[in-house]
Amino acid sequence: MLLPPANWLPQAPLQPLRLDWLESAGVEVAILRLDQIDPLISGNKWFKLVEHLKTAERAGAEGIISLGGAHSNHLHALAAAGKRLGFKTVGLLRGHPQDTSTVEDLHAFGMQLHWLGYAGYRARHEAGFWTPWQERYPTLHAVPEGGGGLAGALGCAAIMRQVDEQLAKLGWDDFDAWWLACGTGTTLAGLALADSGKRSLYGALAVPNDHGVAPNIESILAQAVGPVASYRLIDASRRGFAKVDQTLMTFIEQTEQVSGVPLEPLYTGKALLALKQLVESGGFAAGTRVVFVHTGGLQGRRGFAATP
Ligand SMILES: Cc1ncc(COP(=O)(O)O)c(C=O)c1O
Repeated sequence: MLLPPANWLPQAPLQPLRLDWLESAGVEVAILRLDQIDPLISGNKWFKLVEHLKTAERAGAEGIISLGGAHSNHLHALAAAGKRLGFKTVGLLRGHPQDTSTVEDLHAFGMQLHWLGYAGYRARHEAGFWTPWQERYPTLHAVPEGGGGLAGALGCAAIMRQVDEQLAKLGWDDFDAWWLACGTGTTLAGLALADSGKRSLYGALAVPNDHGVAPNIESILAQAVGPVASYRLIDASRRGFAKVDQTLMTFIEQTEQVSGVPLEPLYTGKALLALKQLVESGGFAAGTRVVFVHTGGLQGRRGFAATP
């Protein structure tokens, strides 16, 4: 497998986010634009993949096999990385064949796809799930859904370094809290490991509470050797993963117009709306400084419209 040069680290700008509801509350927010690191391998995805790719390379693998849905940002970034860096990719997909824009891209990037149905996909956590796939693709390294696990989290330490390096340009000596969308919680766990207790972490859940985010974060943090930052999970899912409503879509449209920051409805739009709700309910004292991590995912907004 080919990895990018060791000194290749995509850089995300940290920018002030000026919105009237923040100014009214006296809360300062800076946004880390992970959506801008690369046209295709964007958002938190590269950071979650990088340690998995190193493990695959050490194991002498020829590529990666992983899982996701028909709109998966993770599979999209993985397939794009495979095409660019020249390694083989196989995707195991939830449900039955459908032609979303994401799936069209996966084909175009050369990812080989297998549709598992819904029951077949639910079996992904069962012991023995990977055995037939490893027999079929013995030269590929398996990466869990969403690029998760400890390896996925460890790659996210670089996100913290990128923020710390840019604080001075905002005139900040430090900040109080992180705010980011959570799907599996891997990125948040990575920041909790890296930050080791300096700032609080807020995870805006893009999935319902019973989707196992907290246990997933705990199982990653249980492997930490040093102190970890405290975190709080907030339900931002708005009745379920990928459920989109008019309030959300209007908020996204207005915020994009005022700030120029593109958002998508599944993760970043919901996370920012949840921040607004907390700020407006007085959850942050005036003078609080927050870093909002834009986790990307903009490829996934193609074809999304409000549903009642
Ligand atoms: C755009 C976007 N933001 C946030 C997340 C959540 O990241 P994590 O699974 O690490 O919680 C994901 C993927 O799950 C994503 O695609």
